[in-house]
Amino acid sequence: MGVPEGYRPMLDWALDLPGQLRVGYKAARAAGLKPGRFANVVVCGMGGSGISGSIARSLLWDRARQPILSCRDYDLPAAAGKDTLLVAISYSGETEETLSAVSQARQRGCRIVAITSGGRLAAIARNAGWPSVGVPGGLPPRAALGYLLGACLGVLEGCGIARGLGRDTTAAARLLERERPTLSRVARSLARALLGRLPFVYSTARSLDAVAERWRCQLNENAKLVCHTSELPELDHNEIVGLGGPEFVAKDTELVVLAERDTHSRTLARVRETLFIARGSYHKAHLLTPAGRTRLERMLWLVLLGDLASIELARLEGVDPKTIVRIDELKRRLAQLK
Ligand code: F6R
Repeated sequence: MGVPEGYRPMLDWALDLPGQLRVGYKAARAAGLKPGRFANVVVCGMGGSGISGSIARSLLWDRARQPILSCRDYDLPAAAGKDTLLVAISYSGETEETLSAVSQARQRGCRIVAITSGGRLAAIARNAGWPSVGVPGGLPPRAALGYLLGACLGVLEGCGIARGLGRDTTAAARLLERERPTLSRVARSLARALLGRLPFVYSTARSLDAVAERWRCQLNENAKLVCHTSELPELDHNEIVGLGGPEFVAKDTELVVLAERDTHSRTLARVRETLFIARGSYHKAHLLTPAGRTRLERMLWLVLLGDLASIELARLEGVDPKTIVRIDELKRRLAQLK
């Protein structure tokens, strides 16, 4: 079986995460943003763009004084108003849900900052005089995570939502560069373990919820697989009972548990006990703990591992990690309905 055409470029883009992070962060800090007094932050974006907002939110869940909400739909939450910093992220600049939310944000008088590689979002921001962070174009949006996340962190810092994000970004980029060989090795062995199985990805700390979400989306789009995600300790109050049902999935369910230094010691005990009690309801469990001193380093270590594993899995399955035929078809069909 030959190597799928999109394998090499997707791998190269994934491995460029540290370089992209630096470029995205720098672009945002050069956008002339000013700190403000905001009641909340709303990050609008879908799919491969929206995930960068979720990662920023997970990173800052116990650090930002204002709530950070993510909007993944046409309509804005009621909390969005004049005191809102609204960060609109769309790599193509053409995503209809994001453009709809942006138009509502304009009517409500939110302070809007756009992050995009072009398209209508760039044009709207330019005409309205909103600050806009331009990132390099031409990639599948999910392969541009570093640009979009680096930019999002730069915007949040520039607008006064959190401090120290530049230092965090630099440290994370350095760590990822050093860890690339290890991550590539672990990703290849994880991909072999996931081949032919149904992946369940569990997060064990709120900083890891968006990381698990990224794993799910990358397994969906790159490896063309369904993937389930859930959170500890919450799943110990419901899913633990359902795990293994229906019976035909149990033997083929592969658990990936993401843990890190911020994981509560009782939650770690819960992981051990849950895996013991539910033994027989899954094929195998893999407990993954990242390297890194800071939270962002550890989060992105796991993000890159998931990205690489999904691309390696696509290769083992003989599918092209770059193509997303159904999303393309859906966007075409919806455009015709207008
Ligand atoms: C494609 C991808 C998709 C897009 C989504 C939104 O690689 O990951 O999930 O990100 O369809 O499009 P953009 O990102 O252009 O707003």
